[in-house]
Amino acid sequence: MALSRNVHITGWGSYAPPRVVTNEELARIVPTTDAWIRERTGIEERRIADDHDFTSTMATRAGRRALRVAGLDPGRLDLVIVASLTPDYLMPNTASLVQDALGASHAAAFDLNAACSGFIVGIAVASGLIRSGVYDSVLVVGSESLSRVTNWTDRGTCVLFGDGAGAVVLQASDQPGGVLTTAMGSDGSGGDLLSVHLGTRIPVYSQALSAGENYIKMNGPEVFRFATRIMSQAARQVVEAAGLTMADIDLIVPHQANNRILQVAAKQLSFPQERIYSNLARYGNTSSASVPLALVDAINDGRLRAGDRMVMVGFGGGLTWAACLVEWSYSPEDRQWSRWHRSVQWSRYRLAGAKSWLNRADRWLASMEDRLRRRDHERANDAAGSRKRKLPWSARR
Ligand code: ACO
Repeated sequence: MALSRNVHITGWGSYAPPRVVTNEELARIVPTTDAWIRERTGIEERRIADDHDFTSTMATRAGRRALRVAGLDPGRLDLVIVASLTPDYLMPNTASLVQDALGASHAAAFDLNAACSGFIVGIAVASGLIRSGVYDSVLVVGSESLSRVTNWTDRGTCVLFGDGAGAVVLQASDQPGGVLTTAMGSDGSGGDLLSVHLGTRIPVYSQALSAGENYIKMNGPEVFRFATRIMSQAARQVVEAAGLTMADIDLIVPHQANNRILQVAAKQLSFPQERIYSNLARYGNTSSASVPLALVDAINDGRLRAGDRMVMVGFGGGLTWAACLVEWSYSPEDRQWSRWHRSVQWSRYRLAGAKSWLNRADRWLASMEDRLRRRDHERANDAAGSRKRKLPWSARR
């Protein structure tokens, strides 16, 4: 009998830049108050990337931590997916930068942009590829540098967003449980409600910068209405697809946008508010990083035990939404590795950096060799030509 191929989350990790920006600090730069931000959103502080933290470097740190928990050699990864709306560049893709930095030398890599739903969309895509037998081990990362597309003079948005990254390792297994069902959706007619118009349609060298097109723009109340409707709908969809009811669910790990959205969703789902995990107070809205940041905190807070059923649900720009139902397989203590194992892994990560440097050096030497070979040919041809020219007329023919 063929073994069923299930998909388990075997590793998890997150990274938040050390710089904490409190509501009081923001109140010094825009007309707002700590009380307004707490009351209307639930946010108390957020992390902001410094000049050395980028979407790819934060993703790499979170990815390394997830691999460490999984006890997986990066060379055994088949695919790296980075979900982000703030990639380092348009090209090369951020996932390839992460793949290189991790030393995941056999992995394919691609970016995915579905705004705040991106991480769960990544889980849905990775699960499909693993379940169908294409890949065995996939790293899914959500990473954002939202502070770099935030208009720090717009009090309607700048109080909401923060930076950070979170990652999970998904692996094939014949054990029951793991990712049970996934759902995704989109309504592009609401694309204008939440946007950053940085791209090729409005080139950056035009009036785009002076018009502030490089900043997040949001119709807060409209997005709020959409979020409250879609969060409960998407959560219910993945639970019912597994033949379960909300009473069978132990924890919801939602996109962290606004605590009031979570309260409305709890009411709509008739689900206890205390079983909807929130760490919004500490990080604000980190878009695609928010669900994995919350997942890792929930695990570390002891809110997820082996056998628990958990729904992750995200919604955001696009408009997009996604949800997945997971039967959790591990407790943190099942994922403790010996000191030796950890030091070997640490050495391999260091080696990955050296290998990447050697690859670049090898590519440079190969291109130098090509150039020198071409020059030698040209010189040899020139010499042959001038020898021919020196010969008497009868011999030249
Ligand atoms: N401080 C003080 N006052 C403020 C602030 C602020 N930071 N921001 C807005 N206000 C004022 C407004 O100017 C307005 O004043 P007015 O009545 O005099 O005009 C008043 O507060 C109410 O403004 P609203 O926009 O109606 O405030 P609301 O209660 O809707 O809260 C918020 C705004 C927090 C943005 C809310 O709408 C929200 O959370 N929306 C959903 C956001 C979301 O879920 N995003 C998810 C996706 S994110 C992504 O994909 C990247």
